[in-house]
Amino acid sequence: MIVTTAQLFKHAYGKYAVGAYNINNAEQAMGLFRGCIQSKAPFIIQISKGARKYTDKKMLEAIIRAADQIFPEAIFAVHLDHGDEETCYDCIKSGFYSSVMIDASHEPYDQNVAITKRVVEAAHKAGLSVEAELGMLGGVEEDIKVEDGHATLTNPAEAQDFVQKTGCDSLACAIGTSHGAYKFKGRQSLHFDVLKKIQQLMPGFPLVMHGSSSVPQDEVKRINAAGGTLGSAVGVDVNEYLPAAKLGVTKINIDTDGRLVWTRVHREFFRDKSGEFDFRPPGKIFMEEYAKFIASRNVLLGSANQLDDLRKSLGK
Ligand code: G3H
Ligand code: 13P
Ligand code: ZN
Repeated sequence: MIVTTAQLFKHAYGKYAVGAYNINNAEQAMGLFRGCIQSKAPFIIQISKGARKYTDKKMLEAIIRAADQIFPEAIFAVHLDHGDEETCYDCIKSGFYSSVMIDASHEPYDQNVAITKRVVEAAHKAGLSVEAELGMLGGVEEDIKVEDGHATLTNPAEAQDFVQKTGCDSLACAIGTSHGAYKFKGRQSLHFDVLKKIQQLMPGFPLVMHGSSSVPQDEVKRINAAGGTLGSAVGVDVNEYLPAAKLGVTKINIDTDGRLVWTRVHREFFRDKSGEFDFRPPGKIFMEEYAKFIASRNVLLGSANQLDDLRKSLGK
């Protein structure tokens, strides 16, 4: 059942974080739904601009609608990840999305405010909520690369001003994470001080943590043992997910880890079965492994076993 992102946030705030997982194809969708059903967790499906172009935005929409029928017990929202203004309007018009993210964080502050405000007006008219971003995460997103030196943490006072001026419904804050597999050079920790200050200024307001993959070292080792050349990849400490959730982080974005599971499964499969050329056997292993991974993440986020209570609170 597709619900609004606001409904998910209302149930989660201060207690747990909803996992927001990116999908690009049917195998990821199957693994994601299975993992969330196994762990009885609500979730958010994220679709990036790159994902919309990978096959076709209509293909992804059809996959999600089909998964909704295959897994009628699932409760989830559909969200545009890192949208630009034009893509946000396209998603708002489509009638399919629960929420959009307008990411104008690379623009000067006033521009970010102006763009976000326009998207919020259009989205609210259509009943969608809007995630915006303030501060700059390091790392790579589709066509934007932020060098380490240019990444900036979110300023709490500015965050409050930004939310008041734009009317956005949730805010992605830069608290030390970055996109991709190489997140930390030195101390591997979130800036809880920044989160605390933001929560004090805006109690009850949902925050979002991007770049939250944990980059499991076991996956990295297995990928490298099967011919990969991932360097010193490091991710977020999974023991920091729940403390962040208690400070108002209601959505935790995880994409890279799923790609690592995919890479490990396929590298190992074709290393061990070099004469094989049917893509379905590794695809089946991937769906199972991805489901296991998702279920394990939902436990760490605290969203596991929340489904029955959420259903009750929604009156469904
Ligand atoms: O933050 C970016 C997400 O990991 C999506 O990545 O733009 O390559 O689909 P993508
Ligand atoms: P990771 O690269 O850490 O998985 O972050 C994903 C993300 O923030 C998607 O918006
Ligand atoms: Zn992101």
